[in-house]
Amino acid sequence: MTDGRDRELEGRHALVTGASRGIGRVIASHLADHGARVSVHGRDLEALAAVCREIEGAGGTCRAVAGDMTERDQIADLVRRAEDGLGGIDVLVANAGGSPTKPQPVEEMRDEDFVAAVELNLIATYRLVVAVLPGMKERGRGSIVTMSSAAARRPTAYSPIAYAAAKAGVELFTKGVALQAGPHGIRANCVAPETIITERTDEQIPKEMQEQLVGQHPVRRLGTPIDVAEAVLYLVGDRSAWVSGVVLDIAGGAVITQ
Ligand SMILES: NC(=O)c1ccc[n+]([C@@H]2O[C@H](COP(=O)([O-])OP(=O)(O)OC[C@H]3O[C@@H](n4cnc5c(N)ncnc54)[C@H](OP(=O)(O)O)[C@@H]3O)[C@@H](O)[C@H]2O)c1
Repeated sequence: MTDGRDRELEGRHALVTGASRGIGRVIASHLADHGARVSVHGRDLEALAAVCREIEGAGGTCRAVAGDMTERDQIADLVRRAEDGLGGIDVLVANAGGSPTKPQPVEEMRDEDFVAAVELNLIATYRLVVAVLPGMKERGRGSIVTMSSAAARRPTAYSPIAYAAAKAGVELFTKGVALQAGPHGIRANCVAPETIITERTDEQIPKEMQEQLVGQHPVRRLGTPIDVAEAVLYLVGDRSAWVSGVVLDIAGGAVITQ
């Protein structure tokens, strides 16, 4: 690319959680390709080392910061280690998350499974934002992107209720952060992907079901991690300088049909 967007994140430090694989890995590489120094987070140290090797091999700067997103102290600690390694965080992509359980009737769920979904997706996002905000406020700038899901938009037979409810919470939480932090030069936005084919989803969703799902998307294909990464790049960079508090559906038009 030679349109002046190549290095649009030059000089910025981006922390991407859940970057050891899947969507987060591609987001981290994409932000690095556009000039950001990236801290990549996950639990799998080997996978994180491989992500850093790939980014550094392409000329980027990368540090791995491991930590469990369901442990409050580990979240604060990983933010500290990221800042010690690559400086103040300018960009936070709170991507780590997922559903700890499969869809099931709500009255059959174990209480702890519901709580686990809320903890991994909503409470961890809250704790992460709380850990990065003081530094961003001090520097008077920052851009935060949180990760929702099309599941938060409407119930479906195959989206776990606790996960969907937690992601809906992430959307409203992000809008609240945008309202409070905007006067400090900080923007907060959220992306809400529909089915994105990653190593995990490709394995979990049988091929015939993937073909059926294509038919539910007006743009006749399923999503890819780079579809999400492009949206995140737009939202964290200066081209979206006056965009804050939005939830951007990355869904091939699927949510408008429901
Ligand atoms: N794929 C989709 O179709 C889709 C659609 C809508 C929304 N999303 C959302 O997009 C985000 C990424 O999804 P994905 O499909 O790329 O997931 P994935 O391939 O399963 O990767 C999940 C990432 O999150 C990390 N993670 C999970 N639980 C963690 C924990 N307790 N502590 C620390 N890290 C943890 C994993 O780290 P380790 O593996 O290193 O532990 C991994 O890096 C999630 O928030 C998901 O809800 C995905």
